[in-house]
Amino acid sequence: EGSMSDPDERNEFVEPYLTWNAMRPQLPCKLSDLVTPAFIVDISIVKRNCELMIAKAKSSGVRLRPHVKTHKTIEIAKMQVGGDLNNGIVCSTLSEVSFFASNGFTDITYGIPITFMKLLPLYQISNKTGCKISLIVDSVVQLDELKAFFGNQKNAHFGCFLKIDTGYHRAGVDVKLHKEIGLEIARRISQETNLTFRGVYSHSGHGYHALDTADAQRISFEECKEAKLFTEFLRENSINCETISVGSTPSCGSSDQFPGATEIHPGNYVFFDRQQVQAGACKEADIAVCVLTRVIGHYESSGHMLCDAGSLAMSKDLATQDDHLGAVEGCDLVLQSVSQECGKLMMKQPENGKRPAFNMDDHPRGSLLKIIPNHSCLTAACHPLYYIVENDTVIDVYKPCRGW
Ligand SMILES: Cc1ncc(COP(=O)(O)O)c(C=O)c1O
Repeated sequence: EGSMSDPDERNEFVEPYLTWNAMRPQLPCKLSDLVTPAFIVDISIVKRNCELMIAKAKSSGVRLRPHVKTHKTIEIAKMQVGGDLNNGIVCSTLSEVSFFASNGFTDITYGIPITFMKLLPLYQISNKTGCKISLIVDSVVQLDELKAFFGNQKNAHFGCFLKIDTGYHRAGVDVKLHKEIGLEIARRISQETNLTFRGVYSHSGHGYHALDTADAQRISFEECKEAKLFTEFLRENSINCETISVGSTPSCGSSDQFPGATEIHPGNYVFFDRQQVQAGACKEADIAVCVLTRVIGHYESSGHMLCDAGSLAMSKDLATQDDHLGAVEGCDLVLQSVSQECGKLMMKQPENGKRPAFNMDDHPRGSLLKIIPNHSCLTAACHPLYYIVENDTVIDVYKPCRGW
């Protein structure tokens, strides 16, 4: 009594009669053959976005170490690295690290500041797959924890980046206020025999609040400048940085030059989204994804239609310059509010005016709409499968990695 059993070994439940997999259509198929909500990826745009970022890194003389958290699929990660699995990538969950290392990627940075509990699984993944794994460190406490870990696991070895804060103020050592602390951490990483110091890592997430392309470029330029100044300070103190890694999609999408950096690590650019358009990182035509939904009700008296895309199909992220959860492609309807599985569609509220009425008969119950997400990373993460389309024909299905 009270004993716990492994959920995989409990057999008192039967499989559902209609599994989600059984609802998958035969390919190729039309969008109208899909059960909604469905996450749609226009693969020609993804390929173009990937090729452009590779070309931009090349022409500006920096390496590209793409982040894979936006899509979490092997297929798109291969496009990001031009087919070269030895090209480094960045992951943000252990399950991503495990997924990509098990599928042939050989150089993975776990991009979240490291905590003790994650060390053993990361070591086991690198041991099993041969993948070189790098950590992100931004405090001396983590180095104490690493020392304790290496005391028990003498053969463990990781690369290690010092995370620096160049203005986002989420994580990292603030290099304007605390460069001495940064120096001490870099020195301790360099002295630790089970670590290889790889350089500094900055993520300009504050680029998401850029007002336009020029503002995003300014943020990118500042990030590069601060990173360079700090690495010069390290060099004066006999610590060499092989890598100065910077960027986010607003900064890398908007800028063509990264003076002082040796590497960029954007991720969202594979899909882009409404937020990136507002931050000046891309044009609407560069957005590669949408959520396909069906109209499921007309409510004339309150002036809204209901659709089958709610917060679990879209997420609840707002873009910075408006108040709704996504925009319908090809008209002025927006997803004004969401509950778990449904969303309310209304006309976009004009800046200083009354919300216009619209003719619901243009969108009969059951008709399909495409909603462009505000933040494609979170929207993609809601979906167990991605439907891959070319010219509105579904040609493939990709299965992303899920979990932590
Ligand atoms: C640590 C880190 N590096 C790189 C990225 C990639 O940034 P973006 O998706 O804006 O390109 C992220 C994204 O959140 C991140 O958290």
